[in-house]
Amino acid sequence: MKKTFILLAAMLLAVSAAAQSHREVTLSEGWQFSRDKVNWEEVTVPHDWAISGPFDKKWDLQVVAIKENGEDVATEKSGRSGALPWIGKGYYKTTFTVPQGFGGAKLIFDGAMADPYVYVNGKLAGHWAYGYNAFIVDVTPYMNTNGSANTLEVSLENKEESNRWYPGGGIYRPVKLVMTREQNALDPWGLYVHTLSIDGGQAALRVEHQLDVIPDRIEGYELEITLVDAAGRQVANKRTPADGLGHFATLMTVNNPALWSPESPRLYRLTAVLLRNGQEIDRQSTKVGIRTVSFSKEGGFQLNGVRRSIKGVCLHHDLGPLGAAINKTALIRQIEMMKAMGADAIRTSHNMPSTMQMEICDSLGMMVMAESFDGWKEPKVRNGYGNYWDEWWQQDIRNLVLNHRNHPSIIMWSVGNEIPEQWKPEGVKRYKDLIALCHQYDPSRMVTCGMDQADGAIWCGFAQMADVPGYNYRLHKYEEMIERLPQGFILGSETASTVSSRGVYHFPDTCATNKAWPDGQCSGYDVEYCWWSNLPDDDWKMQDDFDWTVGEFVWTGYDYLGEPTPYDEYWPSRSSYFGICDLAGLPKDRYYLYRSHWNKNEHTIHLLPHWTWPDRKGKVTPVYCYTDYPSAELFVNGKSQGRITKNDTTRLDRYRLRWRNVIYQPGELKVVVYDENGNKAGQQIVRTAGKPKRLLLEPERKTIKADGNDLAYITVSLVDKNGTLCPNAANRLEFIVAGAGTYKAACNGDATSLEPFTQPQMSLFHGQLVVVCQAGKSPGVMTLTVKDSATGMKSSVNITVK
Ligand code: GAL
Repeated sequence: MKKTFILLAAMLLAVSAAAQSHREVTLSEGWQFSRDKVNWEEVTVPHDWAISGPFDKKWDLQVVAIKENGEDVATEKSGRSGALPWIGKGYYKTTFTVPQGFGGAKLIFDGAMADPYVYVNGKLAGHWAYGYNAFIVDVTPYMNTNGSANTLEVSLENKEESNRWYPGGGIYRPVKLVMTREQNALDPWGLYVHTLSIDGGQAALRVEHQLDVIPDRIEGYELEITLVDAAGRQVANKRTPADGLGHFATLMTVNNPALWSPESPRLYRLTAVLLRNGQEIDRQSTKVGIRTVSFSKEGGFQLNGVRRSIKGVCLHHDLGPLGAAINKTALIRQIEMMKAMGADAIRTSHNMPSTMQMEICDSLGMMVMAESFDGWKEPKVRNGYGNYWDEWWQQDIRNLVLNHRNHPSIIMWSVGNEIPEQWKPEGVKRYKDLIALCHQYDPSRMVTCGMDQADGAIWCGFAQMADVPGYNYRLHKYEEMIERLPQGFILGSETASTVSSRGVYHFPDTCATNKAWPDGQCSGYDVEYCWWSNLPDDDWKMQDDFDWTVGEFVWTGYDYLGEPTPYDEYWPSRSSYFGICDLAGLPKDRYYLYRSHWNKNEHTIHLLPHWTWPDRKGKVTPVYCYTDYPSAELFVNGKSQGRITKNDTTRLDRYRLRWRNVIYQPGELKVVVYDENGNKAGQQIVRTAGKPKRLLLEPERKTIKADGNDLAYITVSLVDKNGTLCPNAANRLEFIVAGAGTYKAACNGDATSLEPFTQPQMSLFHGQLVVVCQAGKSPGVMTLTVKDSATGMKSSVNITVK
């Protein structure tokens, strides 16, 4: 009886596989990982082998001069790439099956760090050098055709000094198995959809596709393309025959198209079915958006024909305490936080984005500058991309563009960042070739490269070559360069590099470059930056005063692992200070400065610093208010400190309100803001904290999915009896997770902390930290308990997992 049942089930499976022309499976579970091929542990992919640490300066100690920072003498650098054990080899193995009935199979790696060699059933099936790129391995010649299990092994190697930041280690992005009924079918990256025009209530889309291999007889091959709107209604359908090269190209029109934009990210589903003599052979389906993008002297940057200034942030690929291993919830959290600030774009600095991140940008509405390289042939780091350039640059650009060109969120390609050869003829030649290659695979998008050598890049013609001339910093050169650039507009491809630490304020609040303090932190007054960079206010002044600017990408939206400037030589700094949000994702004060300028839908009133300064009684303690309102009056314990209005007298008074001579007294700090007509519009109060009383646990979402991947982010704050944050608290806390989930990581945003993220204990940094818990696969309740053994304080919160 049992046997008959198994036989029947197997037959059914075989029949359904045969009936299916295309199947995709993500290989996430059942992987084994080892650093030495002797000791193996079970892991899920995406996986980052280095994120658990421990932090140690020995892992990535370098004696180098960072040329990009203007150094010519080599000194010891610690934490430059995160002080985590990412260097060296790593091995992964798993098995996969291709059911009978599928004649072709490909593995799509979205990125593996680094230099992945892929073996199927013991044979080398594929290799890719650059750890940041996606690549396809055709496993058909190596796989078992009888439906039995295949072994898949991946070996990786990270070389020392190959990155200027923390790259992570391992298969840190998803691996997908794509199976097709016939060995050769549609090219997995052959689909290309772009909007040609939107005019008179009608959009024209060009849709193309490509067969993997040109068959002997091309007659009878057709592609049927269907476009369905968000409500499931078919809005267009077309059949087109293959040309002699196995290529399909057709024009589709959509009436009254719902356009894609950050404010209204409307998407359609496009399905392409490959037919041979009317029989289905393969099918692919993807979300697409209808929108146009242009840059010009006359119109600046336009999306769907409407001019706008890009309010962008640069993002590194790591996810703080999760490391480089991507997670959908973590990526959504990043984008949502930036959107709430008013940002409408990200730059994936300085490498290829993950597919998951691009899908999120499509659906949440975030424009993207998709980047590729931090260097070409001339190296910035000893083992950087320069070692691969000659053999790989064309393949890498090909994969970047083919893999990502259907994302409506991507508004331009960036082929490089501060390329050392940008002022040399060979650099101009390389730039020209890169632009041409991008246009070959995607004629719809413009290309840029972040320049930091204003004069040199003009002198040799590099700047003039760009579709979109982008400067990293160099504000003082903008007015001179705009006279010399034939394009007639300038993008701030990288701006600000202002540094700060959440909850830290240094006195006095003087503007300073490369300022290093004994505590290894940067001031939260947002007045410190690098000698090559500037303050947010400087960028806005330029953008507001000159309409040939097309916007900016701030360095950076979040702190990231590595590059602890201005503490490159200070141990134990191991992560950056540039973020608008800290490494835990908590907003620094600067978040509200950008919000006050960028978010036009909501008002911002934000006071700084905190008002708990036991050592500052009677001392001058400047107070700032970040607000979109033009003026405000400040009160200390009810006593007015004066009413001020934004003005142009100094560099910092156009976009901030500052009372720089306030004498600290404990109690209440209150700001009352006034609108353009002088009417009172709102207020904010900050109070001196009393004794630490309880641990406040605030989950960002109270319900998460029981899918084994979803995450709950819970902010833990130590507060007094009135709920006021105790801003100097550094209590060491323990985390216990029970029920329907597990503890994943914690992060306090302190760039000098050596406490491992993945251990269930950590100290508060300026009163706060974030705990990340992961959903199990069964519905239920997950409880996080946070305990301070020293004081006996303890709090719990429940998260529903369903
Ligand atoms: C830029 C560079 C970034 C980062 C930044 C720090 O010049 O492009 O990757 O290093 O400086 O200010």
